[in-house]
Order: sequence, then C-alpha cells, then structure tokens
Amino acid sequence: MNAIEIRNLSKNFGEKQAVCGLNMTVPMGAIYGFIGENGSGKSTTEKMICGLIIPSGGEIKLFGRAHTDADVRAKVGVLIEAPGCFPNYSVWNNLMLQAANLSIPNAEEEVRKVLKTVRMEGAASNKYKNCSLGMKQRIGIAMALLGSPALLVLDEPINGLDADGMRIMREVLVDVTKNHGCTVLVSSHILGELEKIATHYGIIRGGKIIREMTAAELDASCRTYVALRASDMEKTKTLLSCKYLRVEEDESECIRVYDAESPEEIVSYLYEKGVTVSEIGTDKIGLEEYYIDLMKQKEGR
Ligand SMILES: Nc1ncnc2c1ncn2[C@@H]1O[C@H](COP(=O)(O)OP(=O)(O)O)[C@@H](O)[C@H]1O
Ligand SMILES: [Mg+2]
Repeated sequence: MNAIEIRNLSKNFGEKQAVCGLNMTVPMGAIYGFIGENGSGKSTTEKMICGLIIPSGGEIKLFGRAHTDADVRAKVGVLIEAPGCFPNYSVWNNLMLQAANLSIPNAEEEVRKVLKTVRMEGAASNKYKNCSLGMKQRIGIAMALLGSPALLVLDEPINGLDADGMRIMREVLVDVTKNHGCTVLVSSHILGELEKIATHYGIIRGGKIIREMTAAELDASCRTYVALRASDMEKTKTLLSCKYLRVEEDESECIRVYDAESPEEIVSYLYEKGVTVSEIGTDKIGLEEYYIDLMKQKEGR
C-alpha cells in the first residue's frame, strides 16, 4: 500500500493555477524528496495533502483512503511554515499544550518520547523564543510527531539551518522512518542534503510532477564522467574536444569528459599529444546537476 497516491490534482487561486494535473506516489516507509523551484506548487500540494486547503479537482488517497477521512487525518503530522508555539513558554510546556489539544492520554511520556526523537531531551526547559532556528524546526517536528503519525509532511524544514542543524535534521528524519515506521514527505531545494537521505524523489514544475524516481533510479541515470587537470588546461580542452563529444569545465576548474571509456584512454591520448595529466578520476553527477539538466531540457536550452 502507498502512503500517498495523488491523481490529477489541481488547485486554482482565482486565475492562477498553482497545481494542475499533479500525480504523485509515495510508498510507505519512504523519505520522499519533493523538489522544485520557488512557486512551482510544493507548499500548495502539501497543504492539500494535509487538508489545510481544499483542492479544485483530483483525488488524494492516504493509506488507500480518501484524505478527508477522519481516521486517516489523525495519522498525518504536519510542519508547514513555523510551528505554532508560545514564545514565552518552555519547549516542554508548548509540547504538553499540543498533547492536551490532541487529547493524548499519556502526555508526559509521549512528550518525553518525541523530545528524544528530535534530540532535544536536554533543552525541554528552554523558552521557545530562546531556541535556535534548528531547534525550533525540530520542536515543530516533535509537535508533528505527537500522536504517532504514520505520515509526516514537512515543508522546507532545513532551510536556513547551519551544517550541524542539517545533520541533526537528517538523523531525525532517518530515525522516524526507520524506528517509528513513519513515511516522510519533505520539500527542499537544498538538494545536496536531500540526496543523503531521500529514498524517492518527485520533481515538480509549473504545478505538475515532471519526474518521479527512486534513489536507485537516480543513481543509474546520473552519468559518470572523467574529471581531470593537466599542465596546459586550454590546450587540453581543445584536444579533448576534437576526440570527445561532451567536454566541459566545471566550477572547480576541472575538465569533465562524459563520453570516455576510461581515464587511462584519456591519459595516453593526451600523452601522445605532449600534455601531462596531473590529476584524474571518475565521478558521477549528483541530484543537483541532474535537476539542473532536467530543467534546462524542459526549457529547451
Ligand atoms: N493563497 C494564494 N493565493 C494566490 N496565489 C497563491 C496562493 N498560494 C500560492 N499561490 C501561488 O501558487 C503558486 C505555487 O505556490 P507554492 O505552492 O507556494 O509554491 P512553492 O511552495 O513551490 O514555492 C505560486 O505562483 C504562488 O504565488
Ligand atoms: Mg513553498
């Protein structure tokens, strides 16, 4: 069974079509990275999944049932924008209040549990307003985890976090999927971070999913290339461009050759032409470059 199945979803705001004909499948247990430019419809889609706004058309199924079904709704934890917390209350009291709102019976135990999951046991007595952005985001996740949801919907939870904040967030998301049996839908445009944890991806553009794939499929479709540095970079580039079809210089001033059989082949070819290779290796394009390439194709560039 899939955690989320969306068919032909649309949302209009007056004349504006924010989402149009969107299809999405999120398997249970996935960390689904939801990727797209600003304004592509990520937040609107997530708000419809969580029942915060009503679709103009289409169908959303959560765990095989209509997303409006009350039992299913209780299984969804949400963090869209900032968590609704009282700034002068402690982290503990904010969570206890939320537990009371949800009529959670063993509130203290549950609050302790979610604080542990988000690595904040030691900060329960801090006032919310004194918490760092990373901590606030994790408090938001703790709030969303109250009531043991089967699906967590997170909108850009790693935006603005420092490296350490991102690392902890990654650990938390892996933990909730592995140890709490939760499925996670997470939107982000920080693709390098997402790539470290996502098991599935959905790329949205103009309110439509233009590609959906597993991490293994991404890996298989990410081209490998040979990257090198040599004594005379300009000459090397010219020589390689005569023999290979796709030769580019990257940001780190390495020359990349996408259609070579092996690094050895390049080294001996350049050697014959009087060029010494100082560094060479093979690598793969990552999610970020895959995404940029896909966007270029769609724009016909
Ligand atoms: N309440 C709203 N009223 C009018 N337009 C909206 C509203 N919410 C979103 N939009 C528009 O819908 C499009 C998609 O927005 P959004 O879902 O927030 O994108 P994303 O989260 O991917 O940045 C944007 O063009 C945005 O301006
Ligand atoms: Mg958004």
